[in-house]
Amino acid sequence: MWPLSLCIATLVAIWVTYWVYRWRNPKCNGKLPPGSMGFPLIGETLQFFSPNTTSDIPPFIRQRMNRYGPVFRTSLVSRPVIVSTDPELNHLIFQQEGKLFQSWYPDTFTEIFGRQNVGSLHGFMYKYLKSLVLNLFGPESLKEKLLPELELAASRNLQTWATQSSIDLKEATATMIFNLTAKKLISYDPTKSSENLQKNFVAFVDGLISFPLNIPGTSYHKCLQGRQKAMKMLKKMLEERRREPEKAHGDFFDYVLGELKKERSVLTEEIALDLMFVLLFASFETTSLALTLAVKFLSDHPKVLEELTKEHEAIRRNRENQCSGLTWKEYKSMIFTSQVINETVRLANIVPGIFRKALKEIEFKGHTIPAGWAVMACPPAVHLNPSMYPNPLAFNPWRWGGVESNGGSKNFMAFGGGLRFCVGTDFTKIQMAVFLHCLVTRYRWKPIKGGDIVRTPGLQFPNGFHIQLEDKV
Ligand code: HEM
Ligand SMILES: *[C@@H]1O[C@H](CO)[C@@H](O)[C@H](O)[C@H]1NC(C)=O
Ligand SMILES: *[C@@H]1O[C@H](CO)[C@@H](O)[C@H](O)[C@H]1NC(C)=O
Ligand SMILES: *[C@@H]1O[C@H](CO)[C@@H](O)[C@H](O)[C@H]1NC(C)=O
Repeated sequence: MWPLSLCIATLVAIWVTYWVYRWRNPKCNGKLPPGSMGFPLIGETLQFFSPNTTSDIPPFIRQRMNRYGPVFRTSLVSRPVIVSTDPELNHLIFQQEGKLFQSWYPDTFTEIFGRQNVGSLHGFMYKYLKSLVLNLFGPESLKEKLLPELELAASRNLQTWATQSSIDLKEATATMIFNLTAKKLISYDPTKSSENLQKNFVAFVDGLISFPLNIPGTSYHKCLQGRQKAMKMLKKMLEERRREPEKAHGDFFDYVLGELKKERSVLTEEIALDLMFVLLFASFETTSLALTLAVKFLSDHPKVLEELTKEHEAIRRNRENQCSGLTWKEYKSMIFTSQVINETVRLANIVPGIFRKALKEIEFKGHTIPAGWAVMACPPAVHLNPSMYPNPLAFNPWRWGGVESNGGSKNFMAFGGGLRFCVGTDFTKIQMAVFLHCLVTRYRWKPIKGGDIVRTPGLQFPNGFHIQLEDKV
């Protein structure tokens, strides 16, 4: 018996050694970018997600850039990944969408956002959904309908907050934006609903960028449960609508129901619900982080606040009718404001990684990216590059003076780039501008507590950001 078990043990040992060797040295027809694949299966996932308080390039990325150069390989959530901090490669990734690269997100994202979410769709279906979303949040709709609604929401909320001794700006702006988006999408009225829809999205940022372990207690588990509950509510609402088809609400649900009724419609109920879910999430979590950070920067930089206030007071002064609301022309004239917004999202790095899959084998600067591998473009490395942004960690909106470019550029990818450029960009920018307009023209504020940030590597305010608002007059 001895020789046989010895034989088996040896074979197993050889196989394991070979497997570990293959893990560390994946097959490639050319020269892989340098890097380490970490431990078998788990790779370097834990290092990647490890929290840090720095606003600089995440230590995980920084250390590997120093060791291996701007493009390196690693393994995240059991997948081989090429990380790109190279602006040229990032640009190529965006320009070659659907040709050399395709949108791809880790399985955790697909589980949470649904298999039919926009990020996972391609080709015709993707284009169709994109036009649906732009119909709602694109420039035309913003100009015609959304601008006054945004202003009303901002001024009403600020008014309420000013009566309180302190508010958590992160939470308050998230609720403000969620209520607004949910109203546009599904005519959701939180005061009339027995269940709180927003609550189901709260554990989200934690869960999305966490280790995909689906057991009770983990943030990933909470996140999946939140999705289940939210989807159940959305489904119920859609069914209620179906029962009374003649009643129009003028929201996105109406539009979707109309599309679903059409013969040979490409839209399915599943796709529509997944889309609704993604939009609700994308619209409130990202913008509230950006707004909170903007106000924090303004609190810390009185000179910037002064110049911003000047811009907005001039807009009000130059108005013929003092009671009229913000106009599109006024919004377009907010030059310094838009510099403040650019500088805020540059430093915020709300999206720390943009994922793609290589559809073909790709040669880049002497290295080979094998077909099928994941590629992660890393916005923080671009936004904090001192040769593009001198003194990169400083909040300096004036650095944007004279910068002329349209949409995403090689050196600015907070909203992505190429075909998959964020459809919410205009909506976010206008929402921030309108909120800042109402804030600086009518209120003073002082920070009370919180405001510290953590990145895991997504931006978070673990203790919120509590401020006290006070009427100027
Ligand atoms: C500060 C706020 C925001 C930031 C930093 C941001 C960032 C991004 C980025 C980087 C992408 C590209 C992802 C990729 O290429 O794979 C993206 C896509 C997307 N964003 Fe945003 N976003 C923001 C706000 C919004 C808002 C308010 C909405 C909803 C109206 C939204 C909806 C979407 C959707 C649906 C996509 C997917 C588009 C696609 O796959 O083509 N985003 N966003
Ligand atoms: C953050 O990263 C730096 C650099 O790697 C490290 O020294 C520090 O301990 C990390 N942890 C926290 C909590 O900031
Ligand atoms: C937003 O909705 C929450 C419930 O989800 C409600 O308590 C709050 O009053 C609403 N706020 C506004 C400004 O509509
Ligand atoms: C903000 O950044 C965008 C994208 O690079 C650019 O097109 C725009 O001109 C910038 N705005 C200002 C005021 O610099």
